[in-house]
Amino acid sequence: MTPEDLDTVMAARFSCRGFRPDQVPRDRIEAIVATARRAPSWCNAQPWQLAITAGAETDRFRAALRAEAAEAPHTPDIPFPTGYSGVYQDRRRTCGWALYDAVGVQKGDRAASTAQAMKNFDLFGAPHCAIVSSPAELGPYGALDCGGFVTAFCLAAQAQGVATIPQAAVASFAPFLHRHFGIPDDRLVLCAISFGYADPDHPANGFRTERATVADIVDWRG
Ligand SMILES: Cc1cc2nc3c(=O)[nH]c(=O)nc-3n(C[C@H](O)[C@H](O)[C@H](O)COP(=O)(O)O)c2cc1C
Repeated sequence: MTPEDLDTVMAARFSCRGFRPDQVPRDRIEAIVATARRAPSWCNAQPWQLAITAGAETDRFRAALRAEAAEAPHTPDIPFPTGYSGVYQDRRRTCGWALYDAVGVQKGDRAASTAQAMKNFDLFGAPHCAIVSSPAELGPYGALDCGGFVTAFCLAAQAQGVATIPQAAVASFAPFLHRHFGIPDDRLVLCAISFGYADPDHPANGFRTERATVADIVDWRG
């Protein structure tokens, strides 16, 4: 493997917000998980567990999630960010506007931006969804390990030609997710990953996000 091989997969991955309905074969999903499980974790605890839907189970989940999102309060298992300021606010706005531009939501059109946000609960039309949970007793480091696993899953999927989107929005309805998937209360629901084959013509897939430079990221010492 050359360094460019990994770079190619990293550069090709993006958060897909428009999927084709075709199912991903079970053996391909198993291959994605088999690669992602190589992610490192503190003490090799491997805290990640996934509930993965396919076929009619994805549609049953999607319908129940939509109903939940229409009325239930937001009660995630782990706290959502308390704010985005400075450069983080800038980056959040930039990626939000890139999405709105791509799908034709005008500035100030609250109804249209809400409708776009609600597509999270339609899983952006994905044929599969993975719910990621971590043991509560492992706390933030369990969540950190699972974050690495989520990235590994997205990259492994990309290498298999499968598009993904991690979704914290789905984790807003944690009590519902515990009930729907039978996830015990001693586990924290962290996020979902919706996945499937990208619809290349979907407007929401028509933009890519930027990244800060290496110089912006690293404080070199020596
Ligand atoms: C933990 C996590 C949660 C995310 N939650 C959402 C979400 O709820 N809805 C959404 O549309 N995108 C979500 N995203 C996707 C990010 O917006 C996306 O990764 C970021 O803008 C960078 O764009 P890229 O993934 O296309 O490179 C999430 C990403 C991560 C890593």
